[in-house]
Amino acid sequence: MSLYTRDKSPFYWGYLNIDGQIHKKSLKTTDKKEAEKHLFQWKNELYTGEVTTGTNKLVETEKSGADNNKVDNTRRKALMITSGLMGAVTVTGFAVPFLSAWNPSEKAKALGASVKFDLSKLDPGAMAVVEWRRTPIFVVHQTKKALDNLPKLNNRVTDPALSEGIARSSNEKFTVLKGVCTHLSCAPKYHPEIEPKAWDEEWLGGFFCPCHGSKFDLAGRVYKGVPAPINLEVPPHSFDGDTLIIGEQV
Ligand code: FES
Repeated sequence: MSLYTRDKSPFYWGYLNIDGQIHKKSLKTTDKKEAEKHLFQWKNELYTGEVTTGTNKLVETEKSGADNNKVDNTRRKALMITSGLMGAVTVTGFAVPFLSAWNPSEKAKALGASVKFDLSKLDPGAMAVVEWRRTPIFVVHQTKKALDNLPKLNNRVTDPALSEGIARSSNEKFTVLKGVCTHLSCAPKYHPEIEPKAWDEEWLGGFFCPCHGSKFDLAGRVYKGVPAPINLEVPPHSFDGDTLIIGEQV
């Protein structure tokens, strides 16, 4: 759950990932606090079914049809229980270096074509979120310290994925991942800080999923003993100088 802005819109937009379905809409306000309030209200409406996606024309979803209006009761309960934590993480997330890039061309989105991203915009340690085929793609500019720390985690992760390279990328400065938790598809939060965390006293930076506590390192490798079974997926991508091309593998 997060807020973002679009180039041609003066308003904040809301983003929700519910059971793998991506929901986005304009929150019709330029005030961040008010936007956060609308975002929480909208999330609760979706969970309780008081306002369904079928009646809200601004909502875009990955799936269509009757499935949009179904929310599994067990899942709903779990998400309601964790909603307070999700909100807290989202608010602190605004302080993390974050570059939103939800602006591929309409044509590219419609065709599911590849999407280009200018890596020169991204400072070391920062992460951008790029939309590709209605899926958030995390693009992380690794720091030297982060790269030095990754091998230290080889024995704490389920699958070290050594054959994929240190950053799981052909350009080790940049890691490209699908921003979808491999447990039940929540959106993991980016926490690059190297400091003790509530979920890990020896945290060396990575992603934390607030739904059920899965942890991933900065290369998207899943820690042992958490609900997520596998590493964050790497989408097909390639590099052409400072340009990242998502959707094309060379
Ligand atoms: S969805 Fe369950 S830990 Fe991420």
